[in-house]
Amino acid sequence: MTRRQFLALSAAIAAWTPAVAGQAPRIQPGRLRARLEMLSTFGRPDGGTFSDGVSRVAYSDADVAARAWLMDELRGAGLAPRIDPAGNIFARVEGRDPARPPIVFGSHIDTVPNGGNFDGSLGTLAALEVLESLAAAKWTTRHPLELVVWAHEEGVAFTQGLSGSRIVAGDVPDDVLERTWNGMTRAEALRRIGGAPERLRDAVRAPGAHHCYLELHIEQGGTLDTRKVPIGIVTGIVAIHRHEVRVTGMANHAGTTPMDQRQDALIAAARGVLAVRAVGAARQGPQVATVGRLDVVPNAPNVIPGEVTFTVELRDLSEDLLALMADEIRERLDLIAQETGTTMAMRQVSRNPAAAAAPRVQEAIIAAAGDEGLAALRLPSGAGHDAQMMARLGPMGMIFVPSVGGVSHAPAEFTSWDDCARGAQVLLVAVLAADARDTMV
Ligand code: GLV
Ligand code: MN
Ligand code: MN
Repeated sequence: MTRRQFLALSAAIAAWTPAVAGQAPRIQPGRLRARLEMLSTFGRPDGGTFSDGVSRVAYSDADVAARAWLMDELRGAGLAPRIDPAGNIFARVEGRDPARPPIVFGSHIDTVPNGGNFDGSLGTLAALEVLESLAAAKWTTRHPLELVVWAHEEGVAFTQGLSGSRIVAGDVPDDVLERTWNGMTRAEALRRIGGAPERLRDAVRAPGAHHCYLELHIEQGGTLDTRKVPIGIVTGIVAIHRHEVRVTGMANHAGTTPMDQRQDALIAAARGVLAVRAVGAARQGPQVATVGRLDVVPNAPNVIPGEVTFTVELRDLSEDLLALMADEIRERLDLIAQETGTTMAMRQVSRNPAAAAAPRVQEAIIAAAGDEGLAALRLPSGAGHDAQMMARLGPMGMIFVPSVGGVSHAPAEFTSWDDCARGAQVLLVAVLAADARDTMV
């Protein structure tokens, strides 16, 4: 721990006031684990086990089946879940004072291809665990409580993530339903998961509609694991800007076209990938730049590629820096295009804004960790989360638990069962701490 982090943590602990002074109902770790293991079977590779991870890309058969299972689990817990027009699942428990805005908490269950068992799944099933544990203890809150399972967080489909929360936050571009991916329009995809594209705008909520939003998530980086701290309090979430680069060369015969007469789009793209890395690494700081997907046309061994499209993803807390990095990448691509006899056109395809966690929500989490006798560390999130969309509507906060070895978006992603249980318990107490306040603003 650096001296600065130590001082920040000490200040946070000095400010800690008990959330519910050890009186909170307890979550059931065994039930949480059993559900995580069950959810992992949806999208598991054939013949695989838990440790082989999942491919549960949004709108896939596995996603549809997992959502149906989850709806049953929610009903089995005595809840009455409903799906909003954007495909988000909500389950609400009324509070003692129906005039108060709800405390909303949850996460997502879609994954990246070959993803892990904890990203999104933990926060979703912990939210259910919180509602069930409070109900079993006959604990009623002043505010209504609302569990949410966000539709399509990862952004594998349609190259844009935070899809369900984005709509709820009011970001609904006119062409949103026409976009196609994997032979499906977005409207068809939404219908597959029980959404109602014709009423999409009904899913939008107004700023101030929530008392606050809370999300438990695995850290996905290695800070907590390295420092052996069980609870992270997120201070803010990075902005994510995605671009698409379309490289156009000339397709030609791989056997008859001399090496000095080629306009090979893949060679240009390969140099483009290195240019993206160079820009990402050009300055000190936490900014990152990644090319994660290439589509090569025609993608045949005996044809010089005529066209390549690749993604460029840039992340940092500063959106100004991301804009500057995009300009630098564009300049380098122009040069590569000249040298390779190709054209390289780069356009921005999505933007997740950076978001700060609300101080009072952070305080509620610190109080919850304090109640549970757990050390906690403030840290920013380098991963994107639906919480950054919810920050547009009101106070937001996130609880992180350690990712072993900092591995995520891969089958080896793992968080110890004890850490999962600790995170769920801190979520429960943080909900109660938030409930005790009239406003989180
Ligand atoms: C979501 O997990 C992201 O950060 O891409
Ligand atoms: Mn996630
Ligand atoms: Mn993810």
